[in-house]
Amino acid sequence: MKTTTTRPERRQSFAKISFTLSSFFFVILFIYVWFSINEVQFEGLRKLSQSAAINFPFYQAFNSSTNTSFIAENSTLTSDPDIRILIGITTLPNNYNRRHFLRLIYGTQSTNGAQIDVKFVFCNLTNDDQRVLVALEIMRYDDIIILDCEENMNRGKTYTYFSSLPEMFNNTDDKYAPYDYVMKADDDTYFRLENLVESIRPLPKEDLYYGYVIPCSSMDPFKRYMSGMGYMVSWDIVEWIRSSDIPKNHLEGPEDKVFGDWLHVGKRGKNRYNAKWSMYNYPTPPSPCTHELWPDTIAVHLLKNDEKWIKTLKYFNVTNNLKPSKLYHIP
Ligand SMILES: *[C@@H]1O[C@H](CO)[C@@H](O)[C@H](O)[C@H]1NC(C)=O
Ligand SMILES: *[C@@H]1O[C@H](CO)[C@@H](O)[C@H](O)[C@H]1NC(C)=O
Ligand SMILES: *[C@@H]1O[C@H](CO)[C@@H](O)[C@H](O)[C@H]1NC(C)=O
Ligand SMILES: *[C@@H]1O[C@H](CO)[C@@H](O)[C@H](O)[C@H]1NC(C)=O
Ligand SMILES: *[C@@H]1O[C@H](CO)[C@@H](O)[C@H](O)[C@H]1NC(C)=O
Ligand SMILES: *[C@@H]1O[C@H](CO)[C@@H](O)[C@H](O)[C@H]1NC(C)=O
Repeated sequence: MKTTTTRPERRQSFAKISFTLSSFFFVILFIYVWFSINEVQFEGLRKLSQSAAINFPFYQAFNSSTNTSFIAENSTLTSDPDIRILIGITTLPNNYNRRHFLRLIYGTQSTNGAQIDVKFVFCNLTNDDQRVLVALEIMRYDDIIILDCEENMNRGKTYTYFSSLPEMFNNTDDKYAPYDYVMKADDDTYFRLENLVESIRPLPKEDLYYGYVIPCSSMDPFKRYMSGMGYMVSWDIVEWIRSSDIPKNHLEGPEDKVFGDWLHVGKRGKNRYNAKWSMYNYPTPPSPCTHELWPDTIAVHLLKNDEKWIKTLKYFNVTNNLKPSKLYHIP
């Protein structure tokens, strides 16, 4: 009895073992196949991202994980830059396309050895879509400043911007100012960074107020203020805006004019530079503030539509350095 019962048991347990073995084999095979497929996929992804790093201009331009923001593609920042500029472009959270476009515009320019950080500046986000999409932009580009304010044109956004910077860029290890100059620019202005840098290089790094003087017919930078298309001050004035009561008590009004009033009342900006007519409004529609496109250009303002942007970019031959490749043909 004993033997007869053990035999089927043995056979059964043998069958069990072979079943476990074969399923084990299949599991191994499955894992092997899964890994091979995925390795191919990972490899493909890796290759894709590598080629992106080489061919996609703002992949490199904006991949400065440690540095505050982007440095234009041909940055010669192996040595310390002699000029460090923050360009804050005031815009609105929902203007995603404009930001992507401007990243192209600035990510493909060289800066002649200067450090230029272009950042987009707006007030508090107001909905959940923005909280996802803007956060993604920050993860990818890290070029956004969100101020503690409600979106407004002429009720102190500019004050909030300048007065927030000393704390935002407060680096306790570093006694030096984080930037030599800080600019506020419109999102319909095109700056040519090399020309901007060359115009700034000879200028003082203290008490400087730079821009396109308003009224348009005036060439005297002390009368009266610099246009909101893009004006720039040295870092000491940024600190003064933060600490003085003069700006704090005068927030309402056209932001560029109000800014000029602060400096006037506070007797700041002893050094001034009028960049007219290297800065100007787009030729059409004609006005006392416009100028023809010409080579000696630092900035063109009022680029209100694609056609004006494209005509401007074409005029300045911005795509002339496109490298030849078998992958495309652009006559
Ligand atoms: C991004 O920057 C880091 C640190 O500088 C560098 O190691 C990495 O290769 C860069 N990645 C790309 C895709 O350029
Ligand atoms: C930014 O990059 C420059 C040049 O590579 C470096 O000297 C500087 O320390 C960096 N700044 C930060 C905040 O990492
Ligand atoms: C970067 O600029 C230098 C001099 O300004 C130039 O010689 C060099 O070719 C540029 N490199 C690239 C990749 O554009
Ligand atoms: C902006 O957002 C911050 C953080 O969410 C909040 O503390 C602050 O009160 C908001 N400011 C305004 C002006 O709404
Ligand atoms: C910068 O940080 C130091 C040390 O934490 C602090 O004493 C100083 O007030 C800060 N400055 C600004 C402008 O926030
Ligand atoms: C653009 O290129 C053309 C043809 O090479 C040249 O004649 C023109 O002066 C260039 N324009 C500027 C603004 O450099």
